[in-house]
Amino acid sequence: MAEIALRGVRKSYGKTEVVHGVDLDIAAGELVVILGPSGCGKSTLLRMVAGLETITAGQISIGGVVVNRLEPRQRGCAMVFQNYALYPHMTVAENIGYSLKIAGLSRAERRERVGKVAASLGLTEFLERKPGQLSGGQRQRVAMGRAMIREPRVFLYDEPLSNLDARLRVAMRVEIRKLHQRLATTTLFVTHDQVEAMTLADRIVVMNKGVVEQVGTPQDVYNRPESTYVAGFIGAPGLNLLHGIADSDRGVVTLRDGQRLSYDRGRWPEVGHGPVIAGFRAEVVKLAPAGLAGRFDFAEELGAAQLIHATIAGETVVAHVSGATRLNGGEPVSFVVDPAEVQLFDASTGRRLAGENGSAVASAPGARAMVPA
Ligand SMILES: Nc1ncnc2c1ncn2[C@@H]1O[C@H](COP(=O)(O)OP(=O)(O)O)[C@@H](O)[C@H]1O
Ligand SMILES: [Mg+2]
Repeated sequence: MAEIALRGVRKSYGKTEVVHGVDLDIAAGELVVILGPSGCGKSTLLRMVAGLETITAGQISIGGVVVNRLEPRQRGCAMVFQNYALYPHMTVAENIGYSLKIAGLSRAERRERVGKVAASLGLTEFLERKPGQLSGGQRQRVAMGRAMIREPRVFLYDEPLSNLDARLRVAMRVEIRKLHQRLATTTLFVTHDQVEAMTLADRIVVMNKGVVEQVGTPQDVYNRPESTYVAGFIGAPGLNLLHGIADSDRGVVTLRDGQRLSYDRGRWPEVGHGPVIAGFRAEVVKLAPAGLAGRFDFAEELGAAQLIHATIAGETVVAHVSGATRLNGGEPVSFVVDPAEVQLFDASTGRRLAGENGSAVASAPGARAMVPA
C-alpha cells in the first residue's frame, strides 16, 4: 500500500478545462470514494492517477514518488472499470492469471496465485468457465481478481458496480469493503451513487464540475455539509433547503411567504441579518400542529415509513415519518422542525455559514449513532 497525493491537479481537453485544480491526500491503506454526478471529472481524475491521461498541470505522487512522467505500468495501480472487459476466449483462470503470464511467471506459480485469489473471491468452482458462462456479479469478481493478482499498491475502481442489478450491487459493495479490510490496499473508488459512497468509504470526496466541494468521513458530509450542493447530494432524500431572511436577534429565518423557522442562535453566533438558506433533514421533521404550514403533494412509501412531500413557501420539503399517514393531494400539512436541527448556508455562495462551534450538533436520528461520543 502507498499514500497518494494530488497537488493542484488540472486537466484540459483542448481549450476546455474539466478538472480545475484538485488537492487531495489519501493515506496508505485508506478507501476513498470520489462522488459526483456524471461529467464532473471523476473518471478523468482517476485516469490521471493511473497514468492513462496526462496531467495538464500539477503533481501526483504515489508512495512519495512523483509519478507525472511514469508509465501506467510503473505506477503500481490496478484499475477495475464499469465494463469489466474480460477476454471472452479465455477461462476465468486465464483471465485472472494473464498479467502473471505476461510477466513470465511459471505455470506452477501462476496456478498457485490464481488459486488463492479465486478462493478469496469465491470463484474457485468457476476457474475453467469462460466469461460468457458467468453472471454479471461473477464477471465483476473476475475483473477484481485480475486486478488483485498483481498485488498492486493502489486499487482504482471506476463505477465498477453500475452495470449490476440492485441486489448484486449491495452484495458486491460488501465484498469490496471486506476485501479492503483484509488487504488494506490504498483504494480510490469512483461513483455517482451517494449510497455506495456512504457505505464504502473511509472518506468521501464530493466533486462538482471539476472541483472538490468537500472531503470528509461519511458522517462529516452527512452531518456537516460544507455547501448546499453537498447537502442536497448526500442523503436520501437530500437536506431540505428553504430560502429566507435571517434575523439573528430573534433566531428566526423568515421564509418567502412570511412564515418563520426558528434556529438555535447559540449555535450560529456569527449569523447576521440577511438572506440565508436554511437546511434540515427529512428525518427531523415531525407532522404536528402549529408548525410550518404547507400543502401536501404526495407520499413515497418506504414500507415502515413514508416520505411526505409538501410545498412550503413555494419550495419542496420532505418529511420522513414512520407509520402510514393518509393525506390527500393539496391538503394542508404542518411540519415542526426542532431549531437545534436547523443548519444555515450563505444564500449567494451556498457555503455553510460559520458559527457552529465544531461539535457535531445537527444530526438526524439515524446518523446519531455514528457520531463519536
Ligand atoms: N477525451 C476527452 N475529450 C474531451 N472531453 C472529455 C474527454 N474525456 C472526458 N471529457 C469531458 O470531461 C468532463 C469530465 O468527464 P469525466 O471525467 O468522464 O466525468 P465523470 O467520470 O465524472 O462522469 C466531461 O465534460 C467530459 O465530456
Ligand atoms: Mg466516469
